[in-house]
Amino acid sequence: MGPDIRPVIDADRCDGCGRCVEVCPLDILVPAESGGPEPIGEAHCFACGQCVAVCPLEAIRHPAMKPEHFRELLPPEESTTPESFLDLLRKRRSVRRYTDEQISGETIMRLIEAAVQAPSGLNEQSWHFNVIQDPERLARVRRRIVAIYRSLIRMLDAPFSRLMLRLMIGAENLETMEEARAVIESIIEAHSSGGDRLLWGAPTLIIVHSPEEDPMGEESAHYAVADMMAMATAMGLGTCVVGFLVTVAERDGRLREYLQVPEDHDIATALVVGYPDAEYLRSVDKRMPPLTVI
Ligand SMILES: Cc1cc2nc3c(=O)[nH]c(=O)nc-3n(C[C@H](O)[C@H](O)[C@H](O)COP(=O)(O)O)c2cc1C
Repeated sequence: MGPDIRPVIDADRCDGCGRCVEVCPLDILVPAESGGPEPIGEAHCFACGQCVAVCPLEAIRHPAMKPEHFRELLPPEESTTPESFLDLLRKRRSVRRYTDEQISGETIMRLIEAAVQAPSGLNEQSWHFNVIQDPERLARVRRRIVAIYRSLIRMLDAPFSRLMLRLMIGAENLETMEEARAVIESIIEAHSSGGDRLLWGAPTLIIVHSPEEDPMGEESAHYAVADMMAMATAMGLGTCVVGFLVTVAERDGRLREYLQVPEDHDIATALVVGYPDAEYLRSVDKRMPPLTVI
């Protein structure tokens, strides 16, 4: 957690409406006898900026953030409607065909800007994004993963090494591997004939990771990725999560090196991004989940 920097109240502007006190999640702001709030609560301020964001008189500033970090929001009539937002979510599909067109640095920065709007545990925002666009490095990543999957399949097929594998990764993981075997074999086969069923020929790979020391870092990073995928859809881009990469990268030092993920970081997810070479004319309803109303 960063230093305990607290909001500063401009007493001349504040009319003591109390909105900032109501939204402060940590009770940092306490109503003073004078009527205005005072930043004297006991907790460590995690600088979420909600106090500044609700003040109609611009009577609060937060020294941990610059004034330009607070943006005007679109009025409701120009903002997304629930229908258009749901439509956007329906439009997001896992895209597995991409054009060769690379996405620009500016586009990546827009995606990251969307990603970091996500909630994060204790407002740590500890997510890191590694963007890989160099075709040679992408090819190296693919080769490494395919090599590892090849040796895993060989181990699955030989009784002694299968037993060793079971001891190494546990019976449950071994069963998961068996379930994924057909897909893994299709990744290997495609690679052998010049295809790509791993990164799907996408021009950009984004690895999202966070320091192990943040116990909620990985979970927070998942929310960021969800925002990023929605933004990508809004920008006409396609994305696909690549779980098959994450599974290997979690255990393989060399792959982590290629991806430049520090040893003491957890990989939350890997995502390919590019311009889709497929057009979806309609959405597919997802199953209704088990719903318990208590
Ligand atoms: C954790 C996770 C891992 C995934 N891994 C892969 C993957 O390695 N390769 C792939 O093609 N799709 C992968 N997907 C995409 C799913 O297959 C996809 O989300 C699902 O089939 C639903 O389709 P839709 O995303 O088009 O709605 C993954 C999705 C998630 C959430």
